[in-house]
Amino acid sequence: MATPYAYFKKQIIPLADAKIGVMTHAFNYGTAVFEGIRGNWNDEEGQVYVFRLKEHFDRLRKSCRIMKIDFPYENEELYSITTQIVEMSGYREDVYIRPLAYKSSEVLGVRLHDLEDDLLIFVAPFGPYLDIEKGARCCTSSWRRVADTGIPARAKITGIYANSALAKTEANLNGYDEAIMLDERGHISEGSGENIFLVQDGKIITPPPSSDILVGITRDTVMTLAREELGIEVVERDIDRTELYTADECFMTGTAAHVTPVVELDHRPIGDGKMGPVAARLVKLYFDIITGKNPKYAHWCTPCYSKVKA
Ligand SMILES: Cc1ncc(COP(=O)(O)O)c(C=O)c1O
Repeated sequence: MATPYAYFKKQIIPLADAKIGVMTHAFNYGTAVFEGIRGNWNDEEGQVYVFRLKEHFDRLRKSCRIMKIDFPYENEELYSITTQIVEMSGYREDVYIRPLAYKSSEVLGVRLHDLEDDLLIFVAPFGPYLDIEKGARCCTSSWRRVADTGIPARAKITGIYANSALAKTEANLNGYDEAIMLDERGHISEGSGENIFLVQDGKIITPPPSSDILVGITRDTVMTLAREELGIEVVERDIDRTELYTADECFMTGTAAHVTPVVELDHRPIGDGKMGPVAARLVKLYFDIITGKNPKYAHWCTPCYSKVKA
């Protein structure tokens, strides 16, 4: 039986014992930054491969700079804590790893300065998020993506997820799988937890970071694979809402959602309303890579179980 462990107050302890006080600043004011990292189960090897650990901790470090959170950890130390808690937890399935750097002082007062900071990391089992084979039915959200002039979307700040939650719940309660948000200028920004891509006339197009997106690591993975493995040009530019209606294909990317086709938007089928050929090739490549089955991309995968032979 698997028992989840966590890194909490500089120690590895059972997740059940990792508790914060009700006055914790981050809990009251949303002053924490986090990452969502997947550990992918490889059944043949009996191994969990954590995907793009370096890039996730690099982004966490940047989020900390924006939110003035002290982050005095070396990468090697972070990798070692992460793989240890996965190994100690003993899951034989896909897992989600959540590092969270937060304002830990138990005081009242909205600010970022003159507060203590801490880091916690926990692991939990995590299966599929959206139905990749069926694809996602989406709506354009009535909620706009938070702008860099309000709360910077490039930082993965807990407080920002109120914006994502408003959009996701509106979409789900209206019968859709996912919301697609526009930025304040009215261009396509992103899903509640995914970046967006469209395929048009043989090119892949995705919004730039200036469209108030979280600059996704799966986004980078897919852009790299499209260019280097499929030889498809990838363009970052502003995208209008109606360009998605007439796209040949559309798909979303994210650690939780992997690569999920968008098969319908605002009651209009995209392409022929099924997973398109470009998305299908990317999905196949991507799943082989994240489960450690493609040696060319082994540098993106960190094994956690030390007793398993490579
Ligand atoms: C708002 C938002 N956009 C995009 C993404 C995709 O980012 P990544 O591929 O790094 O998981 C996520 C998920 O982390 C997200 O929460």
